[in-house]
Amino acid sequence: MTARIFSRLILSLVAVLALALIAVDYLVTQRVQETFASQLRQELAEKARTIALMLPQKPGEFGELAKATGARLTWVDASGRVVGDSDSDSRSMDNHKARPEVAAALQGQVGSSLRISPTLGVRLFYVAIPYQGGALRLAVPAAAVEAQVRAIRNDVLLSTALAFLPIVIVAAVFARYVSGRLGTIIDFTRQLAEGNFRARLPGSSRGVLGALSTKLNETSEKLEFMLDRLETEHAELEKLENIRKDFVINVSHELRTPLASIQGYTETLLDGALHDPANNLKFLNIIRQNAERLARLTADLLTLSRVELNQQEFKFASYRAHRILSDNLDGMRPIAERRGIQLVLDPVEPAVAEVFCDAEAVHQILTNLLDNAIKYTPDGGTVTIGARQLGASNDPAGRVEFFVRDTGSGIPAADLPRLFERFYRVDKARSRALGGTGLGLAIVKHLARSQNGEVRVESQVDKGSTFIFTLPVHDLGLSDAKPIQKELTAS
Ligand SMILES: Nc1ncnc2c1ncn2[C@@H]1O[C@H](COP(=O)(O)OP(=O)(O)OP(=O)(O)O)[C@@H](O)[C@H]1O
Ligand SMILES: [Mg+2]
Repeated sequence: MTARIFSRLILSLVAVLALALIAVDYLVTQRVQETFASQLRQELAEKARTIALMLPQKPGEFGELAKATGARLTWVDASGRVVGDSDSDSRSMDNHKARPEVAAALQGQVGSSLRISPTLGVRLFYVAIPYQGGALRLAVPAAAVEAQVRAIRNDVLLSTALAFLPIVIVAAVFARYVSGRLGTIIDFTRQLAEGNFRARLPGSSRGVLGALSTKLNETSEKLEFMLDRLETEHAELEKLENIRKDFVINVSHELRTPLASIQGYTETLLDGALHDPANNLKFLNIIRQNAERLARLTADLLTLSRVELNQQEFKFASYRAHRILSDNLDGMRPIAERRGIQLVLDPVEPAVAEVFCDAEAVHQILTNLLDNAIKYTPDGGTVTIGARQLGASNDPAGRVEFFVRDTGSGIPAADLPRLFERFYRVDKARSRALGGTGLGLAIVKHLARSQNGEVRVESQVDKGSTFIFTLPVHDLGLSDAKPIQKELTAS
């Protein structure tokens, strides 16, 4: 491609230069010929006049006079008849009245012409002057004049061509440079057309080609950026679609188990077990447990979707951190006591620490975390809750960090990243046996976010886990926020 551009550029230049040479040749030839012809005309006319003065005295020396001038001499009378000719027998010559130079001389003017002599058969330059009513004509071969014109013409052409040489060299260098750059740009655009938006042109901001390269690079960068974004969006959409599918499968599965159980035991009862005093109450209890599980599951799903879609209404206000913790702890005490688990409330530092939140949402967060802590801690263990303030109380971005720490089974590090996903359970069977739906931590995460907080976990297998969530000290504007945006989250 580069070679093609280069040869085209060079060919165009050579064509232009050749045209220029032709024009120069034409103009120079014309001008030189005119100059020589006019000089020769003058010269021959002068000589003819001298001969005209001398001829009457020496009529017999016609041929000598012609030789002295170095030209052919012809004498024509008024009728056009050739009286004498230095190079030919005048008697054999036809009437010269019509010869252009003779015709002009017969009119009383100096005539000239350049043509082939019908008598001698060579190209001659003729000049005729009026003489005794007729004409006296001198002629010299045109070849000498033409050779001089040709020599000058050759000199001019050669020097013009030599003058063009540096132009050709400079143009060749320039053409090589331009064709190289253009070739690179064409290769680059081909790569773009093939979809390689990572291609870049070598940087140079000089000149028009530099500006073009910069613009093309910018275009390529934008295309690459857009493509990356589309790929990311596509990947995200695929991820969301997979999450949606997983969610539907999970929900159906979670609903199917209790429903199948209810259906099975109801049929057993109807088939006669209702009158079997040894089993009827047991079966009814199982049916009730499964109905409760279904109710819990649907309630959790509802809470989750409301929070996710920002449809949950919150009543934000300032609450003392200590008060929130103690209220929640009291509510969980009966369950903990049944398992011999000690519930400890760490003193909050500073004691006056306050948080800006919805009390019911924080209650739900703490209940879920305490429920897990008690559920996944062996009998006789300890669950500690507490809070501490991060930053000064007057700091507008100040936060209070709450924690729920247990001495339970702990969570393997591999499970931690997915722990807050919907339906994610470390030990499915155990969670189900304990009546869990696997939605608790997903609800905690979304509720914490809706309060402008975050949640995280630190855990060590067989040592215990600490769930930590933050809440703002001040109103960060969330209390005025209307449900606006459906948040498509992964869990
Ligand atoms: N304190 C904890 N100690 C050990 N494992 C925990 C703890 N808290 C949560 N987990 C693990 O995380 C999983 C998810 O917890 P999550 O609260 O979402 O579900 P669940 O407790 O099983 O069911 P639900 O809370 O809906 O009744 C649990 O199944 C459990 O495996
Ligand atoms: Mg739970």
